[in-house]
Amino acid sequence: MISFAKILASNTVPKMRIICRLSHSLEVNRERWKEYLDISESCDEELQRTLVKDMTVIEEFLSDDEENSLFQELEPYMKKLHYEFDHWDDAIHGYRETERLQWNKSNTIILDRVRNIAFPPGTPQLKLVHVLDLTEEGYIKPHIDSVRFCGNTIAGLSLLTDCVMRLAHHKQKEITANVLLKRKSLYIMKGIARFDFTHEILPNDCSKFRDGIIHKGRRVSVICRNEPSGEQSVLCLIPRLMSMERQRHSLLNKSNRRTHSLSHIRTANQPAYKVTD
Ligand code: OGA
Ligand code: MN
Repeated sequence: MISFAKILASNTVPKMRIICRLSHSLEVNRERWKEYLDISESCDEELQRTLVKDMTVIEEFLSDDEENSLFQELEPYMKKLHYEFDHWDDAIHGYRETERLQWNKSNTIILDRVRNIAFPPGTPQLKLVHVLDLTEEGYIKPHIDSVRFCGNTIAGLSLLTDCVMRLAHHKQKEITANVLLKRKSLYIMKGIARFDFTHEILPNDCSKFRDGIIHKGRRVSVICRNEPSGEQSVLCLIPRLMSMERQRHSLLNKSNRRTHSLSHIRTANQPAYKVTD
């Protein structure tokens, strides 16, 4: 913990002001949750309140120029990769992906803005930014990001198209929330949205938000994550969980011949790390 005196003595006061302003604007943004979250009636009020707090979408986070700037830096590299289609048992269909460390100056500024709004100051973050390019036919099946490789917050920018992300409670599958991810928006998924709900990106044949069909075109997402916490790592050491992990790995290795560098991030339908039953 940083002491208040240290904060006053350092030059972090203006930064703190910015952070207060950011969290205030997040609060204001959340009041508009019905514009981007469609939560099933089976969700009780308390869970709904927590979900609204833990799944935020900021529309128009990027300007047209910023979206274009990110895309222009990524496209020359992405277009050299092949889309993956035929691994029916993978978490994703119709995609190519990479991780990127170095960004040009203007894109570094954009990504810093993402990190500042999504993660409290001092949060250890994964330095590599994950870039996922889905074809128009592409979709992501329900999964929970692996707790071994990813911390409690996932912040994703959506480029090129609108789409629908669906969250489904991993134990009570009837509790769902459709999330409208508009082109140029930023989503911040944390807490129960990250650990207790699977997430997926819907294919076009069921891509709907409330009564509207949301046609998904090619989509590029740019995703920042934080590092797993000590608590997450410690929980992974619990023997029972170790054996769950081993089972998962042997399942993955049997069904998934592809050794894609990023497949470890996604844990298909796994109930994360919680030892509740
Ligand atoms: C993932 C994922 C969501 C997105 O790669 O694990 O869920 O916004 N991506 O692309
Ligand atoms: Mn994911």
